[in-house]
Amino acid sequence: MAEEHPTPGEDRVRIFDTTLRDGEQSPGISLSTPEKLDIAQQLARLGVDVIEAGFPISSPGDFESVQAIARQVEGPVICGLARTSSQDIDAAWNAVRDAARPRIHTFISTSDVHIEHQLQTTREDVAGQARAAVAHARGYCEDVEFSPMDATRASVEFTAEVIQIALEEGATTINVPDTVGYTMPEEYAAMFGELYRLVPGLRDVTLSVHCHDDLGLAVANSLAGVAAGCRQVECAVNGIGERAGNASLEEIVMLLHTRSASLGLETGVNTREIARTSRLVSRLTGYPVQPNKAIVGRNAFAHESGIHQDGVLKERTTYEIMDATTIGLEQNSIVLGKHSGRHALRKALEELGFEVEGAALNTAFKRFKEIADKKAKVTALDLEAIVSDEMRQSPSQFALEAFEVEASSVRSPLARVSVRLPGGEVVSGSFTGDGPVDAFFSAINAATGHEGRLKEYHVSAVTGGRDALGEVTVMLELGGVLASGQGVSTDILEASGRAYLRAITNALADASPVAEAERELQREAVEPVASTPGP
Ligand code: KIV
Ligand code: ZN
Repeated sequence: MAEEHPTPGEDRVRIFDTTLRDGEQSPGISLSTPEKLDIAQQLARLGVDVIEAGFPISSPGDFESVQAIARQVEGPVICGLARTSSQDIDAAWNAVRDAARPRIHTFISTSDVHIEHQLQTTREDVAGQARAAVAHARGYCEDVEFSPMDATRASVEFTAEVIQIALEEGATTINVPDTVGYTMPEEYAAMFGELYRLVPGLRDVTLSVHCHDDLGLAVANSLAGVAAGCRQVECAVNGIGERAGNASLEEIVMLLHTRSASLGLETGVNTREIARTSRLVSRLTGYPVQPNKAIVGRNAFAHESGIHQDGVLKERTTYEIMDATTIGLEQNSIVLGKHSGRHALRKALEELGFEVEGAALNTAFKRFKEIADKKAKVTALDLEAIVSDEMRQSPSQFALEAFEVEASSVRSPLARVSVRLPGGEVVSGSFTGDGPVDAFFSAINAATGHEGRLKEYHVSAVTGGRDALGEVTVMLELGGVLASGQGVSTDILEASGRAYLRAITNALADASPVAEAERELQREAVEPVASTPGP
């Protein structure tokens, strides 16, 4: 691979995961602190180098999650995002300071379109804000990343000037984002060539790419940046993120892995954890993975045409450039049944990376028994789905107590439900709808008194077979808030009800007076730097 400006002595590409920050900015995603912790623990198992855990000033909830991750997740660098104001940087530092390896990531736009219209300021002011921000962050932390936002639409000379300032103030990583997914591979690579020429000091720090996928070029552009010498790639699991998303982590990692002979580069990622990480992120965010998605899509290793099937049966490499087991598919042979005991369940869960003890183990065991009664074999994928489902349930949520749905070709479907409210009271409702699911969700609205409006509804099977567990994802709108929820069960209607009630819980949490107060605090925090809105 032609590398004109590689960072000295490095064939190792650092993987900077922004699933919990840029990824979480996708509409309808609202992860709780325990859910973010679960994802962060899995990212650590996956072996990413940096976890961007959130944007601490943006809300007390975000601050709390970043702090919890900094305190509990071992291995990766834990990073918090900050604009250039001292309040932002103080919040980022206070959230990450307890990590073994903390990082502050500060940013400001260098494109004229952002400077004039969004920030409503001058290039001189931007340069001054960048200097002050990096200096302030370095006062706290040795590891400071600086990003000139929207750099790919900015004057390269001005971006270089601001990067030079960031280096003078001690930034240790310079990330050059393609914020709106506008650039093309040759153009992005040429920009890095020019930046190296204008700022020779870039050879002594880590240069980084951060690409959005608006034109479907995020991975190609990231690779072009790596070829030009960048040694950190910012990316997100399943490619989630603002608008069309970020470069997909699994695609970047498997590209560097599969083509290592040509590229001569490596990452520290344990590729065998990729599939599980993708499933966890999809489940907790409510963002399904498209079937034909590279690496982690359901069909990524499926062969439909007879010619391909014939070839693969004779020799796998005829039509497969990667082995499914490399990303952790089909490697787990755990199978439990209705006679398996608590000890076997705990061992199986441990193998899957879940440490479940005490009351949580009792609940998981009860749920496992219910499912094992209906399903002959409970596989690793089933266990993972059940445990993730149970982990999402808490006493402060609405819970489905009982339901009855009558459907026929001659009468409109009728649904009756009983729902346990967060306070413990059980309420009932019934409704006649257009279809059984519509009637069911309307009956839940009637019981809870909340008029959720269904926006999206997805059903998938966790494994194959007629007795497979069904997994349902619901996205609804309630009082102007968009929220998602997921549910798992051998019964699709039960899974749907669980998913719908979780989405209602999430929407209400986002619309609660506490959340409103959080937004108010956020607005106040933004005021002194009203000229620098969030990413
Ligand atoms: O896309 C972007 O520019 C960002 C920055 C905050 C790095 O997300
Ligand atoms: Zn971004």
